[in-house]
Amino acid sequence: MLKFPCLLQVSLFALFGLAIAQNLDVDVNWRKYSNSRPRSERVSIAQNAINAMQPQLNTGTGEFNGIGFWQSANVYSAMAIQDQLTGSTTNKAVVVNNLKLAFRRNKNYDAYGYNDDALWWAQAAVYAHKAYKDDELLNNAIATWNSVSRYVITEAQALNARHPLKNFALAGSCDGATMAGGVFWRPTADDKSINSITTGLYLTLSAYLAEITKDSKYKDASVLSAKWIKAHNIAPNKILLDTQSGADCSRSPASWIFTYNTGKFVEGLSVLYDLTADNSWNQLMLDIVAAAVKNTAWQETNGIIKEGSDNGSNNDGIGFKAIYIRGLLEVFRRTPENEKLRILLHSYIDVQYNALLDLAKSPSGNFYSANWRGPQPTAFTSWGQLAALDVLVAAVDAN
Ligand SMILES: *[C@@H]1O[C@H](CO)[C@@H](O)[C@H](O)[C@H]1NC(C)=O
Repeated sequence: MLKFPCLLQVSLFALFGLAIAQNLDVDVNWRKYSNSRPRSERVSIAQNAINAMQPQLNTGTGEFNGIGFWQSANVYSAMAIQDQLTGSTTNKAVVVNNLKLAFRRNKNYDAYGYNDDALWWAQAAVYAHKAYKDDELLNNAIATWNSVSRYVITEAQALNARHPLKNFALAGSCDGATMAGGVFWRPTADDKSINSITTGLYLTLSAYLAEITKDSKYKDASVLSAKWIKAHNIAPNKILLDTQSGADCSRSPASWIFTYNTGKFVEGLSVLYDLTADNSWNQLMLDIVAAAVKNTAWQETNGIIKEGSDNGSNNDGIGFKAIYIRGLLEVFRRTPENEKLRILLHSYIDVQYNALLDLAKSPSGNFYSANWRGPQPTAFTSWGQLAALDVLVAAVDAN
């Protein structure tokens, strides 16, 4: 499967003196990093897993039994992306009807007072719009963007050290960098947390809306929030950190390293690079991807992701790795010219894909354990299924 990078491209980079710091080599210690299943089989495997999730749908709420509110939105994201990749409408009615139902039930998609919750659903609505061109869903996403935008720190607010919806003095800058672009995790007046996932979701949603509507205000918003993450929440090893206080600049523990922060950010950067043609976003994306796929904090030396692998009960961490793989899929889709990167990404996705199919799939049904290292599940769990969906969908395309 391995191919060699384009020599011309390498020599041009050398000619213009661009630093190529990233190591985009496949790790030969990875377990089964190639695929021999034809596309039609991969499409069936993903759709069968989607179908096995459907009995958990609560048709009164649009949520799925056994997983959290934000996680339910991500089931629809995987379903819509499957249809977009395959050019089908197999999942359309379920996705569209339930995303509309959830919006009617929860103002601006916010059921519990979390901006990230609202953005997960808005993100799902955008994927669905891309797959099905449904304008009501696009409008729901825009309404949610408008609502969450009130919690993005503007340049003026950072200078004045005040935010109109918060009851504490803002840290206008931390470590010499403006806090403009950071997005508060929660609307609550006294909640100080600004985190990578809310900011990453916001910048990604903004970038997609810029692409769809061509309105430059979304592009500007995306750039500002990307700058916040770049300046504040990336560790020296290029892995995203989690949270910073908007009051005193204090940070979450260095050990709070979660796949979805990194995955959502590289997804956003891939769209932002297409929007801006600014190579610095591309280089940052490459640096982060190169570090992420080799990061032993969340995977075994054989490459199988171990984060969120509790097969006995749901927790947020079980949904994280799905977001990460989905982000890598978007990077893959948007970088056709970077063959070396695409080999790395399809290899890494195949490691997870083969682990799911060999080690974590029920021998008696189309359901999967949250623990991708195995053993095979003895019963269906909504959280194991949710975590698997994005890998199965990603493997349809990233091969
Ligand atoms: C979870 O894994 C344990 C072994 O680690 C196994 O005994 C148990 O049956 C599994 N549960 C499910 C629901 O698959």
